[in-house]
Formats: sequence, structure tokens, C-alpha cells
Amino acid sequence: MKSLAGFIAGIPKAELHLHIEGTLEPELMIAIGKRNGVSLPYPDAEAARKAYNFSDLQSFLDIYYRATAVLITEEDFYDLTIAYLRKAASQQVRHAEIFFDPQSHTARGIAFETVVRGIERALVEANDTLGVSTKLIMCVLRHLSEEEGIKMLEKAMLWKQWIAGIGLDSSERGNPPEKFIRLFERAHREGFLTVAHAGEEGSAASVKKALDTLHIVRIDHGVHCMEDERLVEELVRRQIPLTVCPLSNVRLRVFKSMKEHNLKTMLERGLCVTVNSDDPAYFGGYINENYIEAAIALDLDRDAIVRLAQNSFTASSLSTVHKELYRKEIDRYIQQESN
Ligand code: HPA
Ligand code: ZN
Repeated sequence: MKSLAGFIAGIPKAELHLHIEGTLEPELMIAIGKRNGVSLPYPDAEAARKAYNFSDLQSFLDIYYRATAVLITEEDFYDLTIAYLRKAASQQVRHAEIFFDPQSHTARGIAFETVVRGIERALVEANDTLGVSTKLIMCVLRHLSEEEGIKMLEKAMLWKQWIAGIGLDSSERGNPPEKFIRLFERAHREGFLTVAHAGEEGSAASVKKALDTLHIVRIDHGVHCMEDERLVEELVRRQIPLTVCPLSNVRLRVFKSMKEHNLKTMLERGLCVTVNSDDPAYFGGYINENYIEAAIALDLDRDAIVRLAQNSFTASSLSTVHKELYRKEIDRYIQQESN
């Protein structure tokens, strides 16, 4: 029988919480920076990795936004996206719902169209040659104003064939969900899938507020929901998915260590939790490393891994038929593994 790590590596899965800019590995960052003549505060990739030592979400975001400054041409966005998709395919990711942060690029004078065209070219190629289906979710930066976010939403409305959803990310502290009620109302009316980061550094009240005011179908992170039993009951009853990112939570000190992560408790409580990598180039691992490190620290068994993988498809925005096909693929995988 395969080891648990081997079992995790082979199980079909979906990734639902992944910032494409967070997949910029130091080697690619240095290479793209060189070709575009953008200087970085690191002499080489190793020095960059050493500097990735975060004390909280904001200290990470400062470094993350600075690194995105190397991305300028359509080719850069293509290279970034295809590198992630190749890695994801090698880890048996069958479907990925990918965030991008256009405001971190348009603020530097990069055209929205350049970003979307580069990403989109990689998504088509991945569908064709890697067997990974994808959806693109445009995130609005919550530290900026709602008006600025609405300008991005209006751009996204012209790219509906490529942009399936609208999300909300960046600094949670001081930027509550209520700041974006009008924007999400409009996104919902326009037929976008809507999701939001909530309860990462914020409290259970922030999760509740996002759920009640933003029409969201999924919560990104949401780990602090466990502080409010009535909210947990609601999330369980409505099976609202939570896209949990274990390595991110440990690296950004949401939990002191993986052993203290509440993923297992959430799963046992009946929440529809999924495992994701958030910003894998910064947090020490892609989706399989997230499953493996959580499984080791929290003593998750095969049944728990299967549940997490099934949840990843259930929580996706795939059609009912596709969700069922992927869950059947998991069933076949389990059967083959137990022979
Ligand atoms: N939280 C909020 N915003 C982000 C994150 C995150 O984990 N990663 C990239 N933008
Ligand atoms: Zn995130």
C-alpha cells in the first residue's frame, strides 16, 4: 500500500484558492526582472527565499506587491500562469479557480488587457495539453476604495467570457466586507460568481458580515468562523465552502504551528472545508505539500484526505455533471489504491 504522502500525491483534486501572482517563484521573478530591466532588492533567488520571513499578512503583502512589479508584458503573465498550471497538473489538480489582482498591475501602468490576455493564453493551453480545467476570478484589493474596485468590475464586465468570478483580497484589518457592498451587489447582478477572503486575520464577525452582505458562495480562509458556534451551525447547514490554506496560515502566523491548525476540527464539525495553497511561491509548498503537512501534523487519515478532495470539487463552480464525474474519478482512485 502507498504511503499517505503517495496517496495524497495521486488523488485527483481541485484548487480553489490560488493567487496567480503568489506563484511567482524567485527564479522566475529574477529572470523576468532581468529581461524587463526591473531591479529587485535581492541579488538572487536564494536571497529572496531567505527574505520571505513574515510576521503577519501585511508584512507578506508588502513583499508580494513589490515582486509583482517585474510583471510587465503579456508574455510575463503567460509564463507565470503556465508555470503554475504545469506544477498543478503534476500534482493531480484537475480543476483550478485562479485569482488575479489587476489593481496591483494597472496601478503601475500595465493595461488590464495585457494581464488578462497573458493569463488567458496559458489557461487555454492548460485545458488543451495538461488536462486542467480553469476558471478565472478577479480579486478587488480591499485596501483601496470601493470606487476603484468598481472601475475594475466594469473592466471585467467586458471580459465575461474569461472572467467567471469576483473576489476580495489584501489587508483584512481595517477593510471590512461592508466597504464593498455596492460592488458585490453589482457583481452578483451581473452574474459573476462571488467569493471573499474573510476570517483569515479577521474575526468570525467578519465571516458573518461577508456572508450576509456580499452574496458570496464561498469563503476564502474563514478559519476564525470557529469562534462563533451559531455561525458554524449556519455554515454547516448551508454547506458554505471554506477554502483553507494551511501553510499560508502558519507562515502568516494565523496559527503558531501546523499542530495548532483547526482544519481537522472544522472537517469533523461537518464544514465543507477544502485545502489550497494560496501563494505557494512564498509559503513553502503547492497543494500536495499543504495536504501532506496538514495530514502529518493533524494526524489526518485516508478518509479525511478523500473527504477534502471530494469537497474540493463539490465547492467548485463546476457544473453538477462535472462535479459528479470528478468524484467518480476519486472513487476509482480509491478502489485502485485498495487493490
Ligand atoms: N490574504 C489576503 N490577500 C492576499 C492573500 C491572502 O492570503 N494572498 C494574496 N493576497
Ligand atoms: Zn488568499
